[in-house]
Amino acid sequence: MRLAGKVAIVSGAASGMGAATARRFVREGAKVVIADQLETEGRKVAEDINAANTPGGEAVFMRLDVTDEANWTQVVDETVRRFGKLDIMVNNAGISGSAVTDMLDTDAWDKLMAVNSRGVFLGTKHAVQAMKQSGGGSIVNLSSISGNTGQTMTHMGYNASKGAVRTLTKSTAVQFGKDGIRANSVHPGLMPPMRTSGATADPAVRAKMLQTVPLRRAGEVDEVANAILFLASDEASYITGAELYVDGGYLAV
Ligand SMILES: NC(=O)c1ccc[n+]([C@@H]2O[C@H](COP(=O)([O-])OP(=O)(O)OC[C@H]3O[C@@H](n4cnc5c(N)ncnc54)[C@H](O)[C@@H]3O)[C@@H](O)[C@H]2O)c1
Repeated sequence: MRLAGKVAIVSGAASGMGAATARRFVREGAKVVIADQLETEGRKVAEDINAANTPGGEAVFMRLDVTDEANWTQVVDETVRRFGKLDIMVNNAGISGSAVTDMLDTDAWDKLMAVNSRGVFLGTKHAVQAMKQSGGGSIVNLSSISGNTGQTMTHMGYNASKGAVRTLTKSTAVQFGKDGIRANSVHPGLMPPMRTSGATADPAVRAKMLQTVPLRRAGEVDEVANAILFLASDEASYITGAELYVDGGYLAV
């Protein structure tokens, strides 16, 4: 088991890639906190995971709004109280910018930055404090291909928020490497739509986008979970400040 004895928090784990990551982590022997604002969905994910009875693995749900710092304090404190430490933080919660009709809407900018950037900063801040207590850890942040490029069909706040994740990850690696803390970003490409997707959920738009993907297909949530698992695990013990693209070759074009 690749995460035996590890304790992890996965934000946004009630859905999509976060839920796939939580499932995979528990299968690898980790204790995983499913931290999300969607309570019913999050509890159900935890229940389903626990029904598999993986030796050493366990999932628990904790309610979290990633934009709320007091809430982060509660979730990290409760995780350490319950499981004794924190080894892995996956800052995965996020919202899409492709349902916005006014591409220069200021409220959309503020919301995207609040969830996608401030949320990752707060998760990092509170994880670092807990990880320092136990001698280190691994932080994996979900950026996107949108953190590396500009795009027509999404509010620029999405690209900017994911670009911020890309570089704040490198700052984390540089500032906390001495504490045994690694930080890396994962950049998914065209994946199943997010709950908050607009234009990029349209099959016609997706078919057009796929023409620019070298592998000519969308990715699957488990393919992203596999990349997150590698970076979270001790197999990646000398990898920090790196970007891992899970995009079918999109950024290589
Ligand atoms: N789906 C894609 O095509 C794609 C591509 C590249 C990157 N990403 C990124 O991957 C991550 C996961 O995306 P997904 O496709 O699984 O999306 P999803 O919509 O299925 O899941 C996102 C989860 O984040 C949670 N969330 C949103 N705001 C929150 C908040 N304020 N506090 C706590 N939880 C909150 C949602 O409740 C949801 O459970 C996101 O950061 C997203 O930007 C997605």
